[in-house]
Amino acid sequence: MDHATVVVSGTKIADEIGTGRSEVWRLIQQLRSLGVDVAGHPATGYQLRAVPDLLLPDLLEPLVKGTIFHPIHHYYKIGSTNSTAMEAAAGGAPEGSVFLAEEQTAGRGRGANAWHSARSTGIYCSIILRPNLPPSDALILSLAAGLAVHSAIQQLDTRVNPDLKWPNDLLLDGKKFCGILTEMNAEATRVRHLVIGIGINVNQVRFPEDLREVATSLKAASGTEWSRVELTAALLKSLHREYRDLLEKPNAHESILRRFAEHSSYVRKRRVRIEENGGFEGVTEGLDSRGFLQVRTAQGLRTVLSGTVRAI
Ligand code: BTN
Repeated sequence: MDHATVVVSGTKIADEIGTGRSEVWRLIQQLRSLGVDVAGHPATGYQLRAVPDLLLPDLLEPLVKGTIFHPIHHYYKIGSTNSTAMEAAAGGAPEGSVFLAEEQTAGRGRGANAWHSARSTGIYCSIILRPNLPPSDALILSLAAGLAVHSAIQQLDTRVNPDLKWPNDLLLDGKKFCGILTEMNAEATRVRHLVIGIGINVNQVRFPEDLREVATSLKAASGTEWSRVELTAALLKSLHREYRDLLEKPNAHESILRRFAEHSSYVRKRRVRIEENGGFEGVTEGLDSRGFLQVRTAQGLRTVLSGTVRAI
């Protein structure tokens, strides 16, 4: 990646990759169709106008050295990184494997929702973990992933302070820009493997009609373009710290619950409607020791296990 933006002749590229100049032309056209900004043609040589903000393993691996996150797999277009990661995990892929895509054609959200995954504007990332924890701790891990996103964003721009909505949406100006889908394969007492799927709207400026009222991006909310590579690296490093602490430190569990509540306007004293079991309304009253949301209703204190929370 050093000297990435010098002019290189088609012949030199062809020699280096062991092909002909016409094949190089075809590959350059393919890169352009994927959004890579390459100037020139066979007679003048080629030049990258800017190093593209692609989530390439060669760029990311050095930035996350010392973490568990290796190998990093990168796809230009994929159905869902979570589906690919779950299949890979079932096939024995190691803990710490990361799956990143520039675009998802069947991105999945919680419940039966889809995750809009436009090309190279968001981060679509799935991670395989094999924690020695009971399945009941998966929620804590998922809350910790939300905290890791929060911390990564603050490291890049302290002025941007997202609100965490239980269980793990991140909001700016009341609109969602990040969602987390944690899936697992477990026995009753032991997690076999778990995939944390994180979708972040980073540089989107437009959303489909049906999302316009509820979705935003970091760029739309902050007014500046964000480096997806830097944000992904910061996210993986934060997630590494959260995960290591959860496995090693006796007080990590409480720390996650406390910090989640600190960064969330939803955890306490918020009038909400819960879309679960026919739906109910009440005022939030903190998280229980397992990370479930408590809501005071006219009938008493209720624990939200998996429903969608809406402020009312
Ligand atoms: C939600 O809020 O509903 C969760 C959204 C999770 C989206 C991410 S994008 C990367 C990974 N692959 C998927 O198909 N889904 C998750």
